Amino acid sequence: MDIDDPLVYLNGEFTPLSQARVPVLDRGFIFGDGVYDVVPLYGRRMFRPAQHLARLARSLRETGIPNPHDEATWLELIGRVSAALPASDQLVYIQVTRGVARRGHAFPAHVTPTVFIMANPLVPPSREMREQGVACVSIEDQRWLRCDIKATSLLGNVLAAQHAASHGVTEAVQFRDGWLTEGSSTNIWVVADGVLMTPPRDNLILEGIRYGLLEELCGAIGITFQSRRIAREDVTGADELLMSSASKEVLAITTLDGQRIGNGVPGPIYHALFDAYQQAKRAP
Ligand SMILES: Cc1ncc(COP(=O)(O)O)c(C=O)c1O
Repeated sequence: MDIDDPLVYLNGEFTPLSQARVPVLDRGFIFGDGVYDVVPLYGRRMFRPAQHLARLARSLRETGIPNPHDEATWLELIGRVSAALPASDQLVYIQVTRGVARRGHAFPAHVTPTVFIMANPLVPPSREMREQGVACVSIEDQRWLRCDIKATSLLGNVLAAQHAASHGVTEAVQFRDGWLTEGSSTNIWVVADGVLMTPPRDNLILEGIRYGLLEELCGAIGITFQSRRIAREDVTGADELLMSSASKEVLAITTLDGQRIGNGVPGPIYHALFDAYQQAKRAP
């Protein structure tokens, strides 16, 4: 198999990525009318698949797109796509759009969802990023008010990510009216006085699968966890600042807008959570 042209799944067929095609009237293309999820695999084993599939099911429910598969079928399809990739650590991308129909905003009748699944190697942050932490910039959150849905219409997130890229930094940390929301594709965590805090599970953020996981890991290793609104001053004045996502895992943010966070190096809570995460992801 050509590793630059892996097998993907599209609407019932397994085909090389370069040959996968969707019609231009697919509502994913026309309206960004679709949802997605990204499941990590370590040593070819899915990490927290039930949680990812539950989140996908919720995104589908919230957008009124019928869930095309039961959990067993999703697991089988993900397994088959990932089996075609040589890398043993992977990110599997699953997308479901409302389907193909004549253009018109409201839901069309009798439309079949488009299902696409592809796998890519999971490349975790480099040793340098882990040891030194990373720089981030802040940006006003310009997204819609249903950030809890993992929708493919990601223009606000794309613009935030590009803001970070154009500043040569890893991530953009978003604030809405002075309150922390999240990164362009990460959840953000603040440490003060040994307590790990993150914004509440509400419509203003996507609840990462690592949200619940870090909460669990905190319980297991004795770190106090709080889910609460966090003001900008509490972010800039934090002892530590972290981000999490399937691809970044847990990563320390050591500067924000060029200002040092805490001592400017990854701190003890980061190290404890990083170690716990590494154990959890390889646990049998
Ligand atoms: C906007 C947003 N927030 C948070 C996350 C983190 O979610 P997870 O931990 O499931 O990767 C992501 C992941 O891509 C995201 O896009």
